[in-house]
Amino acid sequence: MILSILFVGSSVSRAAEAPRIVEKGGRHALMVDGAPFLVLGAQINNSSSWASTLPEVWPALKDMHANTVEAPVYWEQLEASPGNFDFSTVDMLVQRTRENHMHLVVLWFGTWKNGNMHYVPQWVKTDIKKYPRVINQAGEPIDVLSANSRANLEADKHAFTALMHHLAEIDSTEHTVIFVQVENESGIIGSPRDFSLSSNREFESKIPADLLRAAGKSPGTWREVFGGDADEVFQAYYQARYINEVAEAGKREFNIPLYCNVWLSYPIAELPERQVGNPGIGWPSGGPVQRLLWLWKALAPALDVIGPDIYSDDLGFYTNVLKTYATAGNALWIPETGNSDAYASYLFLALNYGAIGFSPFGVDHTGWTFSEGEGPKLHSENFALLEPISREIARLNFEGKLKAAVDAPGQAEQELDFGKWKASVRFGFPQPDGRHAPGTPAHTGRALVAQLSSDEFLVTGIDASVAFHTEGRLPGLRMQILSAEEGTFENGVWKTSRLWNGDQTDRGLAFRKHIRTVVKIHLGTF
Ligand code: DGJ
Repeated sequence: MILSILFVGSSVSRAAEAPRIVEKGGRHALMVDGAPFLVLGAQINNSSSWASTLPEVWPALKDMHANTVEAPVYWEQLEASPGNFDFSTVDMLVQRTRENHMHLVVLWFGTWKNGNMHYVPQWVKTDIKKYPRVINQAGEPIDVLSANSRANLEADKHAFTALMHHLAEIDSTEHTVIFVQVENESGIIGSPRDFSLSSNREFESKIPADLLRAAGKSPGTWREVFGGDADEVFQAYYQARYINEVAEAGKREFNIPLYCNVWLSYPIAELPERQVGNPGIGWPSGGPVQRLLWLWKALAPALDVIGPDIYSDDLGFYTNVLKTYATAGNALWIPETGNSDAYASYLFLALNYGAIGFSPFGVDHTGWTFSEGEGPKLHSENFALLEPISREIARLNFEGKLKAAVDAPGQAEQELDFGKWKASVRFGFPQPDGRHAPGTPAHTGRALVAQLSSDEFLVTGIDASVAFHTEGRLPGLRMQILSAEEGTFENGVWKTSRLWNGDQTDRGLAFRKHIRTVVKIHLGTF
């Protein structure tokens, strides 16, 4: 029997185009209602998808100017007894999201959650014979379901399929749900792989042909081919195939973008509580970590995207992760990142690498991270600034016309190259003539420039100035500003509110600390 509360749809009845990921020339867009969409996302805390806590979610997201909420759906709640589905949470999430004029990313907390199995229903937790656990090297079962078990896979697939079927029933017209995350930070904490007797037998045999092809290796056993990485690669192979089968089945019910998020492998000591650089200890073994992205892209084609959860604010590490996940035919999507001010400028960095979305974690007002009146201050500044122009940003980025810069130690002055035009970005104020820019105290300055036509640019930033010049000439020499219009886009049409000139433009377009606005600049040469 399927239990479901009566779903009350909103008044919108026009069939919107289904969301999808598109790729062109190595760049990506998440198409929503037929046009590129930038996810200015906000993930709620793990135990916040309940009727009792959702009232503390929406005001927080509104304050942040988020356009998308990421919220978990729990297997233990969805299917508390085998085959009996309760869609009330899903219905509530979709309905409340619509009422708040946002989009929704559904997070499927199924077999895996942060390298454990804590969200599986009790009937799975208590029937260890039918739903086998990972056996560690000491021969002990641990609290992670084995990816080498058909029963585990079938149970998860059955539930995820029911979820996607239900979403198709309630959301095929409006497409409030734009992305579904399959599992959460999958992998094993507590062992590099499953050491059950049957898995050990697999491990001693020849490597499957599909993996050999993907790896470009010659035949052999796991140990012969992958040496010291064999355990992790073994786990990744079965896990990627497991999740791919779950995703594929779900997609047959409702064809919208699916992704997996990643608990990354961090430099040792980056996360103080996990100072061991081993799979299964430092990070969940088998997940799509940086050096296993190739395997996941090859063996889990039903996933449109693999998205890194980034919890290190180290600029070098952050940049490397963005570069890694922006390649290999993968749209750059950051489903989780730190909500502190130290991470805010990384939205601009992510845009510089073509991101389709960015989402700080744990932003609701339930008191876990923030309470009423609090919130992620600098992330909110970003979203307030970019939300009105987010469609244009997504389109221009998809077309490869956008560049961004973030302040960093020793990098208070940077140049963005648009061919004929160069944009000099200088962080921090004051900027006295003849002196170097001071930089911003906590390196939070950020700036973004997008080319609208050969001599026209959309420019914005926080705590930064942007001056244009041509090759080999200083700003102001043999070039001029024809107009600098402050304004915004309304339904795709630019609306000017005032012209900038004088002090606001003479030493570059000056986006001082308290100026949160966008300028369209028209340049000329003489
Ligand atoms: C990453 C996980 O994916 C989230 O669900 C949450 O547990 C955060 N870590 C906590 O920081």
